[in-house]
Formats: sequence, structure tokens, C-alpha cells
Amino acid sequence: MKEKSIELLNRAIADELSAVHQYMYFHFHCDDQGYELLSGLFKRTAIEEMRHVEVLAERILFLKGEVDMKVGHEVKRIHDVKEMLELAAQMETDSANDYNRWANECAQNADSATKKIFEALVDDEERHFDQYDKEIDNLAKFGDKYLALQSIEQSKRIAAGRPGN
Ligand SMILES: [Fe+2]
Ligand SMILES: [Fe+2]
Repeated sequence: MKEKSIELLNRAIADELSAVHQYMYFHFHCDDQGYELLSGLFKRTAIEEMRHVEVLAERILFLKGEVDMKVGHEVKRIHDVKEMLELAAQMETDSANDYNRWANECAQNADSATKKIFEALVDDEERHFDQYDKEIDNLAKFGDKYLALQSIEQSKRIAAGRPGN
């Protein structure tokens, strides 16, 4: 029972670490292309995923397990903003589905504390999905104007000497 929870927690850490790497990669590329809003969104989300790693690792240690810190998958080198957002939205959907299933498994194994951790993560991943989904809508609605506006905002900020996010 404890072993099953530790295995699920380590699988979750692998997914979270993949998300940290992927979103930071998107952050760098959005920043480089001048897409200020998206660059900030990817960075803030990556930081939240890192906090998820911490919560999961603390639970593994409480259960006297080993924290593997394996990364789930390699970074996908996507530079197109629409493709970035679509991958990110898919990753969030997959995580929410996994965590829902794993919360149920933990409930069946009478590990209610781990179950609650997975349930709390589902809330966060659904919120992340929603943020990415809104940006996909904005891009569909406003197209290149939406991206151009972000570049203008970045230029204004740099001209004004304000630090970025
Ligand atoms: Fe997460
Ligand atoms: Fe997420």
C-alpha cells in the first residue's frame, strides 16, 4: 500500500519535472520573441509545477520512500506559439486525468493523505489548463495582433527601464 503510493508519487514528480523543463523552454522562447504575457505565464506556471514537486517529494519522504527525480520526457523543441499552448494544454489535461485516477487508487489503498495531495493538484492543473485554453482562444480571435501587442508592451517596458517578469 505504501509502496504503491510512493510509486505514484514518483511518477507524478517525473511529470511535474517534465512540465518545469517544457514551460521554462517556452518561457525562454516567448521572451526571445518578445511575447511578454505568454513568457510570464509559462514562467509562473513552471514555478507552480516546481512547488508541486516539493509537495510530492515531502510526502514520499514521510512514507520513508526514495525520491527518484526522474524526468518524464524530453523537452519538445517547439517555437510556434499556438503549438506551445496546445502542448501545454494537453499536458495539463493529462496530468489532471492521471491525478484523478491516482487519487482513486490511493483511496482504495486507504492512504487518504496522498489522495488529498493528488486532489489538490487536480485543482491546480485544471486552473493551468484554463489559463492556456484562454490564450489559445485569444490567439484564435486576435491572431498576429495579439502577439504584436505583447511585443509592443515588452519594448515599452524595456524603454522605460522596468525589469521583466
Ligand atoms: Fe503540476
Ligand atoms: Fe500544471
